[in-house]
Amino acid sequence: MMNPFQAARANTPTLTIRGVGVFQGWLDPSEQEEMMLLLRQVVGSAPLFSPSTRFGKALSVQMTSAGRYGWFSDRHGYRYIAGHPAGGRWPEIPQPILDLWHSLTGLERRPDCCLINFYGEGARMGLHQDRDEADFSWPVVSISLGDDGLFRVGNIEKGGKTESIWLKSGDVAVIGGAARLVHHGVDRIRFGSSKLLKDGGRINLTLRVVD
Ligand code: SIN
Ligand code: MN
Repeated sequence: MMNPFQAARANTPTLTIRGVGVFQGWLDPSEQEEMMLLLRQVVGSAPLFSPSTRFGKALSVQMTSAGRYGWFSDRHGYRYIAGHPAGGRWPEIPQPILDLWHSLTGLERRPDCCLINFYGEGARMGLHQDRDEADFSWPVVSISLGDDGLFRVGNIEKGGKTESIWLKSGDVAVIGGAARLVHHGVDRIRFGSSKLLKDGGRINLTLRVVD
């Protein structure tokens, strides 16, 4: 049986890396600027913070979220929480970001979480699976803004061959279907390669259905 994502007939990616569809240049420069304005408002009401791993080590990537749920991590593990750790609900996901999700995936269901990752100079994200959600038949949509990021994709099981691609500002990746649980991560960014963020850095937005 087809899952909802397959049934929705998603668009055709410009390239596929180990099952992850990449839509290169999905957002043009003015759409990227518009998204940055909206994200500044989100970060103004839900400031970036550095979660720690379950081993107590701070992640090099700073994060915050918008939507019904935000992703969080501390010594008690990885999970979604209904409000910012400093208090208050997460802000709404800005409409243009929801529009991108619907037009790219063809899904009626909206995402519950827009995780905002900020990579400053030297930040990286180790290989991991996105597996804190209840139903893996929904895809994960990942939007890149700002500096180039070296995105590595492996396998569903740990280890084995991996392949990498430089994601650029405006590229959107879809981790869904048979590739929904592949290991992926960001080895490094090319700090200062884009002018979108005044002081450099990379933003990744990850849209997910949570419950
Ligand atoms: C993530 O997997 O949460 C982020 C991926 C990226 O930054 O491109
Ligand atoms: Mn991920």
